[in-house]
Amino acid sequence: MDPDDAPAVGALLAGALGGVRRVSDLEATPPHTARRVLVEGGALLGFAEYRVVADEAELCELAVAPAARRRGCGRALVEHVAADAAARGARALFLEVRADNRPARALYAAAGFAPVGARRGYYADGVDAALYRRALDASTPDPGGSP
Ligand SMILES: CC(C)(COP(=O)(O)OP(=O)(O)OC[C@H]1O[C@@H](n2cnc3c(N)ncnc32)[C@H](O)[C@@H]1OP(=O)(O)O)[C@@H](O)C(=O)NCCC(=O)NCCS
Repeated sequence: MDPDDAPAVGALLAGALGGVRRVSDLEATPPHTARRVLVEGGALLGFAEYRVVADEAELCELAVAPAARRRGCGRALVEHVAADAAARGARALFLEVRADNRPARALYAAAGFAPVGARRGYYADGVDAALYRRALDASTPDPGGSP
């Protein structure tokens, strides 16, 4: 992700997840954090943000533009994150997701994540967070190169 992508990524996240990320926060990448964009013909299709610390990784953000959903973009981003995190030494990839987010939970189940717990009433509106984990190993393949 280039700093120039920040406005489009901010708009994607605002539309997809409701939360507001300041564009200025997206222009500089914090330590241990990586960001990837999926672009087609100059249009932003998807975005992923993840952290790798020691032997654990966390998928912090994942969003696909509404017009591009159900085309495999989300899965491609997840697989790239898994492969890159494994290459950086992570042996597990964690994430949390709203318990009522059926598309995302279906994607994570399809991508090999296992439920490992819940945080009751975690979100501001009282919805639980579901926690998932996927084991990684050094041979986790990256099917599409760098998105
Ligand atoms: C969740 C999200 C990232 C999925 O992206 P996507 O590009 O549409 O997902 P994919 O096309 O790669 O789907 C892969 C698999 O996930 C499952 N899946 C994805 N969306 C689904 C839906 N709406 N309903 C049921 N299953 C779904 C399916 O198993 C799908 O495989 P299939 O299309 O062969 O049936 C996208 O819906 C999104 O951006 N949502 C808003 C933001 C969000 O919720 N992010 C996750 C926060 S943790």
